[in-house]
This record gives sequence, C-alpha cells and structure tokens, in this order.
Amino acid sequence: MPKLDPRQDPDVPAGMSIDMLKDLHLLTRDGQLNADARRKLKQIRHLVNLLKPALDDALARQAEPVIVDCGAGKSYLGALLYELVLGPAGRGSLTAIEARPELSEQAAARAARFGQKRFHVATGAIDAIQLATRPNVVTALHACDTATDDALALAIRQNADHIAVVPCCQAEVARQLEKSRPEDPVLAALFAHPLHRRELGSHLTNVVRTLVLEAHGYKVTVTELVGWEHSAKNELILGKRVNRFDATAQATLRALLDRFQIEPALVRAVGVQSAHG
Ligand SMILES: C[S@@+](CC[C@H](N)C(=O)[O-])C[C@H]1O[C@@H](n2cnc3c(N)ncnc32)[C@H](O)[C@@H]1O
Repeated sequence: MPKLDPRQDPDVPAGMSIDMLKDLHLLTRDGQLNADARRKLKQIRHLVNLLKPALDDALARQAEPVIVDCGAGKSYLGALLYELVLGPAGRGSLTAIEARPELSEQAAARAARFGQKRFHVATGAIDAIQLATRPNVVTALHACDTATDDALALAIRQNADHIAVVPCCQAEVARQLEKSRPEDPVLAALFAHPLHRRELGSHLTNVVRTLVLEAHGYKVTVTELVGWEHSAKNELILGKRVNRFDATAQATLRALLDRFQIEPALVRAVGVQSAHG
C-alpha cells in the first residue's frame, strides 16, 4: 500500500505538527492514521471547532485567557487546543487536571519537548485542585462518571465564562432510581427495568447538568459531538455565562429532582441556588 501524506488527510488538522501527532500516537511512526486514532482525532477536531467561539470570546476579552481541561488523560485535547489556538495566538495558558500522575507527567514532558511553555499540568482530583487564576474556559472530554460533575462544579464555583463537557458513562442516577418510589405509576414505568433505569439515569444526569448550569446563569446548548457511529459518548453540553442565576431553571430543577427522588453529584456539590442569594 502506498503511504499517504498525512497533510492530505482531511482528519489531520491543518497547522498541527505531524511530529506532535506521532508523539500523541494519533499518527503511526510512519505518519499514517489507524482506525482508532482517526476516531479520536475526529472527536477532538470537532470539539476544538465547536469550542472556537468560546475560545475566540476568551481571547477577545482577556489578555491572558485561562483554559482548564479536567480529567485530561493523555491530554490530546489540551495538546491540540494549544497547538491550534493558544500557540498561534501567542498568549493564554492551559492547565490539564489529571488524577493519574504518570499521565500528567507524560503530558508535561511532551509540552516541554514541543515548546508549549504555557501548558501546565495539575496532578490530583478535580475537586481538590486549587487554581491560581479564574478559568475562562473549562472543558472535560469523557471525564469518567461524576468527574464531569466535578468539572462543572469547578466551572460554576470559579465563575468560568464558558464550559464544555462531553460526559462519559454515568451510573450514579441509575442507582438512585433503584430506590425511587414515585406515586405516579406512569413515571414509575419509565424506569421499572434495569436497562431503562440505566438509560433514563444517563439522560436525567445530563438534563440535571443542563438545568444546574442554567440555574447558575449559563446559556446552554446541547448538541452531538460527532456522528453516533464514532462514539456512543457523544453528547456535548456547552454553557456560556450570561446571568447570575435563572429562577425558572432553578424551580424546574427542584421539581425534577423531587419528582424522580434523585440528588445527583452536581446538585450535592453546588446546591440549588436560591433566587435571593
Ligand atoms: C476516559 S479518560 C478521558 C481522557 C481525555 N479527556 C480524553 O478524552 O482522551 C478519563 C480521565 O479522567 C481521569 N479522571 C477521572 N476522575 C478524575 C477526577 N476526579 N479528577 C481528575 N482526573 C480524573 C482519569 O484518570 C482518566 O485519565
């Protein structure tokens, strides 16, 4: 098979260092894309594109915008955000929060090798990290289960201007539904079976996340990251801070939690803000 020039491949972002993509194992050593890497690259490329308005806004409003990527793993997303946005802009910083030290050390070493001087790592749990500066954009791509809620809580507490999460698998609310006993038989029928509990639990988790963001003054957009054929974990929740709080979203959230008798991690972390403070 003749080798293809990776620059000609539409999934390889223009402006991205080929050596860095090889270092990230998103290209093979001889510069080719395998199926797994293509899937990952497609997701991250789409996410960077969908984040573009938030990043442009942060760059327009701040001299040194701060991006925080939660549950960064191997920091594919951070590496691309730096290379495609912060690097060319010549300003702003990115902090990758990751619980596993071997991954954050790897990401820090890569950033140093490729001259990404404003790429920082913070090793530890998202809810235990003290950030030196208020973040403008907070991201979390497939942060496991309630780690997505920790990222949202961090963004809300720190008054981040923009937030983007693509949630991973969610089990917490399905477990809470197991104990839920609504009086309404129609409601109870929605999650009488374990498979339906899992699906409804996952859906409710993301609905609650959306309402919590809205209750805290974020304008929220929920969309697909890429086609479902690429990944089952494909829901992108984007929030832009526009107000201090939204009393209607707050009341809807409280009613939903009561109706289903659930209290997910994000609600426990940030509470349901009252209209008076
Ligand atoms: C499925 S991986 C996704 C990694 C990366 N965002 C990506 O899309 O390639 C989730 C990562 O989140 C990290 N993680 C899970 N819970 C965390 C927490 N509470 N605080 C910090 N990192 C966490 C895990 O160690 C893992 O590296």
